Amino acid sequence: TPVAILLSGRGSNATALIEACKQPDFPARICLVLSNKPDAPGLDMARAAGLETVAIDHRLYKKDRDAHERAVDAALRDAGAEVVCLAGYMRLLTPFLTTQWAGKMLNIHPSLLPVFPGLHTHERALEAGVRIHGCTVHLVTEGMDEGPILGQAAVPVLPGDTADALAARVLRQEHQLYPGVLRRYLTKSQAPTSADAALLVA
Ligand code: GRF
Repeated sequence: TPVAILLSGRGSNATALIEACKQPDFPARICLVLSNKPDAPGLDMARAAGLETVAIDHRLYKKDRDAHERAVDAALRDAGAEVVCLAGYMRLLTPFLTTQWAGKMLNIHPSLLPVFPGLHTHERALEAGVRIHGCTVHLVTEGMDEGPILGQAAVPVLPGDTADALAARVLRQEHQLYPGVLRRYLTKSQAPTSADAALLVA
């Protein structure tokens, strides 16, 4: 299945997906890596991996969010994408894109949704004093970080954790979870199984 990745920054989750696609039996191939930020390191990484890349700079569209999204949608369709994976794509999507790609757009979020949607999840987890934190892959709907959950992985919050230490622990799980969920999403019904929840990694 042709899959496009949308990112805005570092691209470590994109790297994990690209690596997974190198496995001969993986049911996806990356047809496009698209960024709203031309200088995103993730774009350089994808280019170096020999993938098709495009930057659609939202700043060039002034305040016209719809025009930017129409350009993103056109690029996705030109590339033949059938599924879209958001991987650190730091733009809120309008109903236009979420409707166009309903049921076909996945996102990874660094918390155990529905707690801590939005930004600064690791700081907020520490402030809240939760003992378990993690990451979620979900289908994208209009509400931010609100769509149906496809998979989650949990990590412990350890004594003395900083937000950075916790983020790094979660990120390692993100890199496992996203390719695993994408594989299951592409190969079978979306009904959750025990494989969709990774056990606590002590
Ligand atoms: C990840 O923590 C992801 O969960 C969040 O943004 C971050 C992106 O990191 N949506 P990277 O660009 O994949 O390294």
